[in-house]
Amino acid sequence: MKPNLFRAAIFHTPRNPFTESAALEVHSDGGLLVENGHVSAIGDFIPLLRANPDARTHDWRGGFILPGFVDAHIHFPQVRVLGALGESLLDWLRHSALPEEARMQDTAYAKLIAREFLNALACHGTTSAMVFGAHFAPAVEMLFEQAFATGIRVASGLVLSDRNLLDTLHVSPDDAYQLSKGLIARFHDRDGLAYAVTPRFALSTSEPMLEVCRTLMTEHPTVRFQTHLNENLEEIDAVLKLFPWALDYLAVYEKFGLVEKRSILAHNVHCSDSTTQRIASQGAAVAHCPSSNAALGSGLFAMRRHVSAGVRIALGTDVGAGTGFSMLKEGLQAYLMQRVAPEGMALSPAHLLYLATRAGAEALGFDDTGDLQPGRSADFVCLKPPGEVLNAVIRHAESPERVLAALFTLAGAESVMETWVRGKCVYQSLSVPR
Ligand code: GUN
Ligand code: ZN
Repeated sequence: MKPNLFRAAIFHTPRNPFTESAALEVHSDGGLLVENGHVSAIGDFIPLLRANPDARTHDWRGGFILPGFVDAHIHFPQVRVLGALGESLLDWLRHSALPEEARMQDTAYAKLIAREFLNALACHGTTSAMVFGAHFAPAVEMLFEQAFATGIRVASGLVLSDRNLLDTLHVSPDDAYQLSKGLIARFHDRDGLAYAVTPRFALSTSEPMLEVCRTLMTEHPTVRFQTHLNENLEEIDAVLKLFPWALDYLAVYEKFGLVEKRSILAHNVHCSDSTTQRIASQGAAVAHCPSSNAALGSGLFAMRRHVSAGVRIALGTDVGAGTGFSMLKEGLQAYLMQRVAPEGMALSPAHLLYLATRAGAEALGFDDTGDLQPGRSADFVCLKPPGEVLNAVIRHAESPERVLAALFTLAGAESVMETWVRGKCVYQSLSVPR
């Protein structure tokens, strides 16, 4: 098959701006050569065309190619509770999230929601996601099957809880073990998919359930792990009452060996130096969810404390407590909240792009995506903003960094022209002019 050669301005972060200089790489009249689902070259368009005269060219001038976004924390059964504003975590769970999650017992409904969810990822330019599944195994099957069919890369798992939620959402540790094993056998490491052991949070899991999580992680050395941590003060108090032996919230997961390189811990808003240092030394990642933290009034994320300790940070929309699927908006929200946080970090456009792409890929263990270096999977999005304001800003921008900052500030789903995963188009806008 002929290679594809895409022409547009290209931005990616092949280096980590939190630890290295010159992390952002830009090709203003760029070419991206894609063969067999992988990036085979990236650079200036004209020399790439000369070297590959037989390639099928896609003239996307006026557009911007970015690596596909990687959402490190999102809940598939919560699409339809987006926008339930005005409550804090535990009330929001009781009134909005959990009743909708109970509806996933109806597998046909779960299939419909899985479709809505995956379409929403694709049309926002998200090509990989670490997804909180459902409390029902057939609903999780629907998610994996639909993800496989669309091509979006998904790590997910059966959500495990055996106390303090709705009874219908509880499962015994024995059943949790058997059901998880079945899902791992069917879906883990199938093209673009990965299984993630997913206890909802310490508040809804007993010690035997956390033990089951450890057993699954030991028996399957490449499955991932995800849960929530230190999101809300009321939640933290309740967890410390349930586990009186624990010195802090993190210690609950540590006792069961659940804090390690494969782990993504969502939120970690209220944390001490000891917590961030232990997370860093155990190699786990934190999914920062700034829209959700604001919407639920959870608090301001101590990004500087995490970065100083060397914690790996990725970005999550946390739909449906968050405010939507856009990783551009999530990047902007991270920036805005660090601006108002005491001792907040000054985030550059390169930081935002890295957080929204390569940082997530590393946290998810999807090592072959997140930037556009040769050899990576061809996972990318083309933005072609239709809006007059954004186009005027871009035309007058004095540097590529300013262009990227404008995209984070002003572009949304209406600017996504096409989304590609593993060299295949998974979304094409009917409204963005070409
Ligand atoms: N903690 C436990 N469950 C949830 C959830 O669904 N959303 C958020 N933001 N936090 C949680
Ligand atoms: Zn969450």
